[in-house]
Amino acid sequence: MGASGSGKTSMRSLIFSNNPASLASRLGATIDVEQNHVRFLGDLILNLWDCGGQDSFMDSYLSTQRATIFQQVGVMIYVFDIETREMNKDLEYYRDCLDGLRQFSPDASVFLLVHKMDLVREPKVATFDKKKKELQEASGDATISVFGTSIYDESLYRAWSNIVHTLIPNATILSRHLTTFAEACSATEVILFERTTFLVIATSSSSSTTSMPLSLGTDEPEVDPHQLDPIRYERTSELIKAFKHSCSRVREEFHSLEMELYDFTAVLDEMTRNTYVMVIVHDPTIETAAVKLNIRLARRKFE
Ligand code: GTP
Repeated sequence: MGASGSGKTSMRSLIFSNNPASLASRLGATIDVEQNHVRFLGDLILNLWDCGGQDSFMDSYLSTQRATIFQQVGVMIYVFDIETREMNKDLEYYRDCLDGLRQFSPDASVFLLVHKMDLVREPKVATFDKKKKELQEASGDATISVFGTSIYDESLYRAWSNIVHTLIPNATILSRHLTTFAEACSATEVILFERTTFLVIATSSSSSTTSMPLSLGTDEPEVDPHQLDPIRYERTSELIKAFKHSCSRVREEFHSLEMELYDFTAVLDEMTRNTYVMVIVHDPTIETAAVKLNIRLARRKFE
């Protein structure tokens, strides 16, 4: 949901259709609702509704189509253009949508994306915080998560990984299995990505990152012996997506990646039909081939 031109179709095209950000300006306005079914993890199918934001469509969603639009919603993602000149109108529609959600899907999560953050001049943080406060006030007692996003950097992946994470029913179990796998490989960390979107599905809770790394909107404050970058997950998603796109331009398919740097080794390989796994090892005595063998042996367990 969100006003016309706020960037809904652009983000969908970037994350789910594998198109680069440079093609976003060629997208036309969405007419009524565009539905996508994205097979996400085995039998988990994400049913994505991109609701065209022109006023006439919004009025129709909130009146005649109300029961259809707001029925059985898992997550409502409302996109606000940071540069909008019609914030009051946006907020009015947003409140109406919240009412619709309360009526038909009271358990749905609500994510608010303050989008096109790349257009904001410094200080970005202060601008975002001000907008976030405004949105919190407009949301009343509803529980919301707010993210600043842009299609031109990794922030979009951070927001969407968090969104998708709330929809995965067995995320905690997956995380536990990844932790066991990390211990078996003497790895610092293991991360599971969805194959097409490269969004983070789950991570091991390694000794150096004791809290769930995907906790909403927060960076990891705890002491970290390996100095792991707090935005490493979304940076990896963004970089691998761009790399996959480059591979497809030369008609090659991306399969796996190995990196041996001076203080750590990273192996990215297929785990199951729908996932990729990334294993990070800081122990120099662990051979890359052993990590790859472990991944191969673990495949059957994760399928
Ligand atoms: P409707 O389909 O009418 O509801 O609009 P929409 O919300 O789907 O907007 P759309 O995705 O078509 O984007 C509108 C314009 O915003 C396009 O020209 C995009 O290139 C631009 N845009 C989208 N995301 C960003 C962003 O993060 N930063 C900047 N600068 N521009 C963006």
